[in-house]
Amino acid sequence: MAKVGMKKLWLVMLAACFNVWQETMAVDLAGIKERTVEVNGIKMHVAEKGEGPVVLFLHGFPELWYTWRHQMVALSSLGYRAVAPDLRGFGETEAPPSVTNYTVFHIVDDVVALIESLGVGQVYLVAHDWGAIIGWYLCLLHPERVKAYVCLSVPFLHRDPHVRTVDGLCATYGPDYYICRFQKPGEMEAQMAAVGTPYVIRNILTTRETGPPILPKGEYGTGFNPNMSSTLPSWLTQDDLDYYVSKYEKTGFTPPLNYYRNLNLDWELLAPYTGVKIQTPVKFITGELDTVYTTPYFREYIDNGGFKEDVPNLKQVIVQKGVAHFNNEETADEINDHIYHFITQF
Ligand SMILES: *[C@@H]1O[C@H](CO)[C@@H](O)[C@H](O)[C@H]1NC(C)=O
Ligand SMILES: *[C@@H]1O[C@H](CO)[C@@H](O)[C@H](O)[C@H]1NC(C)=O
Repeated sequence: MAKVGMKKLWLVMLAACFNVWQETMAVDLAGIKERTVEVNGIKMHVAEKGEGPVVLFLHGFPELWYTWRHQMVALSSLGYRAVAPDLRGFGETEAPPSVTNYTVFHIVDDVVALIESLGVGQVYLVAHDWGAIIGWYLCLLHPERVKAYVCLSVPFLHRDPHVRTVDGLCATYGPDYYICRFQKPGEMEAQMAAVGTPYVIRNILTTRETGPPILPKGEYGTGFNPNMSSTLPSWLTQDDLDYYVSKYEKTGFTPPLNYYRNLNLDWELLAPYTGVKIQTPVKFITGELDTVYTTPYFREYIDNGGFKEDVPNLKQVIVQKGVAHFNNEETADEINDHIYHFITQF
């Protein structure tokens, strides 16, 4: 009897600790203001917190401004104005209808108009995944806009003048490499619809698979993550997941997939910039398990000097042990420190 009582007491105490821990994990979104700005012919949804020099955050796929919630709270408490839009076609930002409305030039122009609307000439830039790609082209096309760039996961994509981007990727990684499978309008949307939006979002956000993402033939199936766990990782709550899902259920996947569908067109439009180096001071942070870092070519490019050659002001490369692709969420505190320590130097 006494033994059972002790056991029960321990369980109650454990549960209490778990609750406290969960509460400290949950981020206080209360101070984040959301509004709509007219930029470059579209209505853009923007989240913002704090006052001071602007730190602009650009998200990737399948994410939204919301992926930066931890960074926004941290940087605003350190004297910065944290600003994070939903990019064109994502979340509550307008989604123009044509595939060709989503070239990197369109998205970069949206971001420049957003910076102007903030009443500042320059920003500190922090970006991840597709946001990182947009970030590189912002630095390439409008170098005067960015004081310093903290880039997560995707290095600068060196333009090969001989091979179009998608053609090169499909030749190297095969026709089931995810970017190749995303190309044909409507096809991946139908395959994703067969498994449902909650599954797709969870499947991608929680993956720890390394190497190039290769999708099952002819279907979404187990997608990016054949070993999807039945429990969520500590850094992603059910509420977080529900937020993403509720927005993607409204917009569908077409607008974000259209970014990938413009990679060849982007390659053509970027021809005049072949070989142009990025002069912005950059800190690059990735996880050692990141699907990009562990895809052949990327790791060699990052580790063996190619990256530094294209980005001469690449000041620091951090490879986080045991961390996967969504490092700003998985290791929020660590990323907050990295951002702060880098941007205070400029
Ligand atoms: C979308 O593309 C169409 C056709 O090229 C163009 O007329 C329209 O201005 C574009 N809209 C935006 C918001 O980029
Ligand atoms: C996922 O499962 C496959 C097949 O069981 C295995 O080969 C692979 O190593 C697993 N990946 C991870 C990240 O656990």
